Amino acid sequence: MFYILFGHSYVNEIQAVSQIFYPNEKFAAADEPAPGGITVVSALDGRECRGMVYNNGEFVASAHITLKSAGAADSAPDEKKERGGLSAALFDALREATGITPAWGVLSGIRPTKIVHELWRAGATDEEVFARLTDERRVTAKKASLCIDIAKAEKYILNHNDGRDMSLYVGIPFCPTRCLYCSFTSYPAAKYSHRLDEYLDTLEREMAATCGYAGDRHIESVYVGGGTPTTLGDMQLERLLIILHKYFKIEKAREFTVEAGRPDTLTPRNLCLMKKYGATRLAINPQTLCDETLERIGRAHTAEMFRHAFEWARAEGHGNINVDLIAGLPGETPEHMSRTMDQVLALRPESVTVHTLAIKRASLFKENLEQYNFPGPDEIEEMLRVARKSTARAGLYPYYMYRQKNMLGNFENTGYCAKDRECLYNVQIMEERQSILALGAGAVTKAVDLERGLVERAFNVKNVDEYIRRLDEMLARKRKILHM
Ligand SMILES: C[S@@+](CC[C@H](N)C(=O)[O-])C[C@H]1O[C@@H](n2cnc3c(N)ncnc32)[C@H](O)[C@@H]1O
Ligand code: SF4
Repeated sequence: MFYILFGHSYVNEIQAVSQIFYPNEKFAAADEPAPGGITVVSALDGRECRGMVYNNGEFVASAHITLKSAGAADSAPDEKKERGGLSAALFDALREATGITPAWGVLSGIRPTKIVHELWRAGATDEEVFARLTDERRVTAKKASLCIDIAKAEKYILNHNDGRDMSLYVGIPFCPTRCLYCSFTSYPAAKYSHRLDEYLDTLEREMAATCGYAGDRHIESVYVGGGTPTTLGDMQLERLLIILHKYFKIEKAREFTVEAGRPDTLTPRNLCLMKKYGATRLAINPQTLCDETLERIGRAHTAEMFRHAFEWARAEGHGNINVDLIAGLPGETPEHMSRTMDQVLALRPESVTVHTLAIKRASLFKENLEQYNFPGPDEIEEMLRVARKSTARAGLYPYYMYRQKNMLGNFENTGYCAKDRECLYNVQIMEERQSILALGAGAVTKAVDLERGLVERAFNVKNVDEYIRRLDEMLARKRKILHM
């Protein structure tokens, strides 16, 4: 698709809004409405913002907004207002041209609740926040209410932050096999078996070099994620848990999650090890309980294996289990979601996270997309509705939410939990109000300065071989932002 700008140069905003309606489309500048596809035109003239849509050079739709003046009538609108007005005007034109009403309006970032927290901090009431989301950002009333409800649940957790609390993340980027939809850093364990010990050696070096940072802070939550950490053999997993305790005071943490993830990696033995070394929360993720879908998405486990893993975990004393599901998997309908929900909730997990499928460039799906039958936006909306109703009936309430790029229908991921079972780490990482020391390939350390409202990041390389080889360089980056 093509774009033409008049009177401004806010390309990023115009591209973001256009790609809500036309995801994955290339975006190129043009001089006039092009014959080969959609052209969007965005124009700013003083306070007047206009958006127009052309198809194959022919005019299709147009919308227009006049920016209100905040101070003196003749004062120029600020850049933020201009960007907002231009986005909304183009959104309205695209909505008319396509007949599609994206539920999250012009919002394309991953953290809609962050906007709510910011407006609250600036003194806005719930009513004003609702109005800003629906009027300015074009969010539907239902999503605006959901967003405010979730931000309220998060507020309780975020209010605990005193600037000395921190989270600790350890990444294990290995999996038994690669699921077709996944774009996370994940190496097949069989192929990398010869490097697993070296990976743990490097992690231990990284822990030894950074544990001083945690020394005079309180580790509120620990998250061992991936990948699938339980891909490690029992001895390797035990070593990981031992070194975590050796370098960090994690026994005082309020939460210690292991993303056990794939049911095919779980055994009574490794579940017992995680309990022994203090894990207080596990994720055991089927994504769906339809065996045909599981096979189609390359999960290499069955619904039965998930049920066994869940029961073994309970038998080993794990009293806080999260279950991840995905809405929008190929071949699935709202009935699949309904059956999956009924079976999952019958096990009484403490939390369920419902993701919307995102089709990522780095996934195996992308190689031959046309062979899959993905549900449409209306079906996905219905699946999310089913999930919301079923979790509510089971006494779970929405407590955290985030969005990704390229999600089918441009919806959201929502975490539902029982009372007092919120995952602290998930909320802290989403809202960026607490520093996170993150170790392992692909881990991102964040230094949050609440007083100055600053977030600095230090990235570890994703490639495992490079991580092992270039640790010192990554340590230097961490030391710099953590002032060690
Ligand atoms: C970091 S992944 C790792 C979890 C673990 N390895 C597993 O697969 O069970 C966390 C969750 O993200 C979700 N996820 C991964 N890729 C996704 C995608 N392309 N679209 C939507 N959700 C996705 C899945 O629900 C998954 O359980
Ligand atoms: S979804 Fe989980 S198990 Fe599957 S490849 Fe991604 S990280 Fe690994």
